[in-house]
Amino acid sequence: MIWESWQYLMTSPQIKQAKTLGFLKESIALSARAKRCQKEWSLHYEQCRQAINRAASRAVQKRTILIFGAGTLNDIPIDSLAVTFQQVILVDLVFLEAARRKAGLYENVRLVEHDVTESIHWIEEGMDLVQQPNRWLDSKSIDLVISLNLVTQLPLIPVRWLINKYNYSEQQADIVGKQLIYAHLNYLRQFAGEVCLIADRADHEFDKQGKLVDQYDPWWDIEAPQAESSWEWEVVPPGEGIKGHWQKNTVGVSFL
Ligand SMILES: C[S@@+](CC[C@H](N)C(=O)[O-])C[C@H]1O[C@@H](n2cnc3c(N)ncnc32)[C@H](O)[C@@H]1O
Repeated sequence: MIWESWQYLMTSPQIKQAKTLGFLKESIALSARAKRCQKEWSLHYEQCRQAINRAASRAVQKRTILIFGAGTLNDIPIDSLAVTFQQVILVDLVFLEAARRKAGLYENVRLVEHDVTESIHWIEEGMDLVQQPNRWLDSKSIDLVISLNLVTQLPLIPVRWLINKYNYSEQQADIVGKQLIYAHLNYLRQFAGEVCLIADRADHEFDKQGKLVDQYDPWWDIEAPQAESSWEWEVVPPGEGIKGHWQKNTVGVSFL
């Protein structure tokens, strides 16, 4: 808890909504959970790194790679990317000190704090104006784009904010959630280079006895692109969840 509070005090995100809406808090919680669940998450991280390396080998040229949702950088094969590509751009709403230190070891790795939905300033004000993002679309040197465990996360905090702070109904919030996912997919499809999407496809919750108690569609009923490979990720291992519950997600890789 002391580490978490310290991180919160020491991190000043460039995008103010990262703090006001709660993204910074979530990033700190994710980072702490990643440390606690090192053993259970290691295979998932390794699968992500392998998928990114496969995507890198498909890129015809190796000028710039752009990764959305870089977060802790734990699921990124940063050593090999820094060698393979002339430039590595890692994007997230907020980066903690550990990620900054890791990225700082490489001359050609750049961290960019940016809202990939280009909409959260509206959402902060209670307006459901979901934009069609366009940053980097005019950049001619981007040969590979990765959306990394991000697309299904995009609606979570904004929707909670609109419901709690602006009394949005479940139905209104649901439309915003769908629009955020749809706009991200549409954005990715406009890049001229290779595009790889890594995301959860199905989330299952189990009780202490291992009985399935709930399952969610993390895509808010939007059709996910076909996965060329997939694996299981014990995202909430036994002991982490409330009342002994645990959660397993199916993560898939698609090329758009
Ligand atoms: C499930 S985490 C995955 C992060 C990273 N791949 C990892 O494993 O550490 C989702 C990430 O998406 C980021 N994120 C959520 N909404 C975002 C937005 N609108 N723009 C940019 N990043 C966002 C969060 O800050 C978080 O780091």
